[in-house]
Amino acid sequence: MTGASNPGGNPIFKSIDHIGIVVRNVEKTAANYADKFGIGPWTFYECGPGNIMDMKVKEKKCQYSFKIALVCLGETGIELIQPLDDRSIYADFLEKHGENLHHIGYVVEDYDKVLDFFENKKIKQLMSGNFFGHNKYTYLDTQTELKHIVSISKSDPGFFTFKENRFGIKKITHPLPSMVYPGQAIDELEIKPVFRRIGQVAFVVDDVDRMADTCVSGYGILPWRIWEFGPETVYDMTVGGKRQDYSMRLGISKIGSIDFEIIQPRDEKSIYYSYRRANGEGFHHLAYELENYSVTMDYLEKLSVKVSMSGMWFGKHTWVYMTTEKYLKHIAELNYTEPGFQYPAPVKYIG
Ligand SMILES: [Fe+2]
Repeated sequence: MTGASNPGGNPIFKSIDHIGIVVRNVEKTAANYADKFGIGPWTFYECGPGNIMDMKVKEKKCQYSFKIALVCLGETGIELIQPLDDRSIYADFLEKHGENLHHIGYVVEDYDKVLDFFENKKIKQLMSGNFFGHNKYTYLDTQTELKHIVSISKSDPGFFTFKENRFGIKKITHPLPSMVYPGQAIDELEIKPVFRRIGQVAFVVDDVDRMADTCVSGYGILPWRIWEFGPETVYDMTVGGKRQDYSMRLGISKIGSIDFEIIQPRDEKSIYYSYRRANGEGFHHLAYELENYSVTMDYLEKLSVKVSMSGMWFGKHTWVYMTTEKYLKHIAELNYTEPGFQYPAPVKYIG
């Protein structure tokens, strides 16, 4: 199914370039990712009127400053952002929501066409700029429709690419960062990556079916598989370390190689519900793929990272949400699937 706003059904977003996370201190947070989780090396940039042109906030000229740290994990970038004044949308977000997942940077085929697409939808630009005159970027007010802020950008070849950053000081591309941490390639570090790859971005929503419909008709994100989860199909559920049943309706689609997951709490027991109450609909967690589930869980226990909620689908597919917020500034989900597990048939397909 395709809608009028996305004629032809071509997906607007080709893939996910990076996840943006707003933090209070980029150096401290990046050091936690590197030293405790083996994610690095990070390249740091100081950004502001000195190196960004055409700066706008809410479509009006406005100068703002921030620091960023960039890394590449698997094929996805992570961008840590620390506002340096109160004028940017980052500062606004930090004040309202604290340190947390802020935006998704998408790869689009044609930057200018996608800007027109959003203008036609009457979706406003939240903030924009042009880094060194070589990297145009725009944040879009997609919170109501997509439950997160969308960022798109257009870079001159070889400029500002996350993919190159993984080699650290051995291969720094233009522009030169103000700092690199740690100073060597991550393979040479003692701590090997705890998390291998981002497998999933997930959102808490009020109505899974309505959100899936919007994604299909408005953005060409499809197809969707919808499931109901509850005590009938999920065993050994826990919340806050105690045995506790909970229920949710959940939809999964894909953007590029990454799962796009939306979750509607069905009761007041789950961390989805409490998150929804505290933050409204929005970005909830990232799921990471691991080399070895039990080795990772033992390691996280040593870091005092605990399980905040868990469940086991038909006794064969386990999920755990970890209290990684203090280090990573977001909730991390980990999964373990027994050999031979088959996904049960969804209750509904959309798109
Ligand atoms: Fe998830």
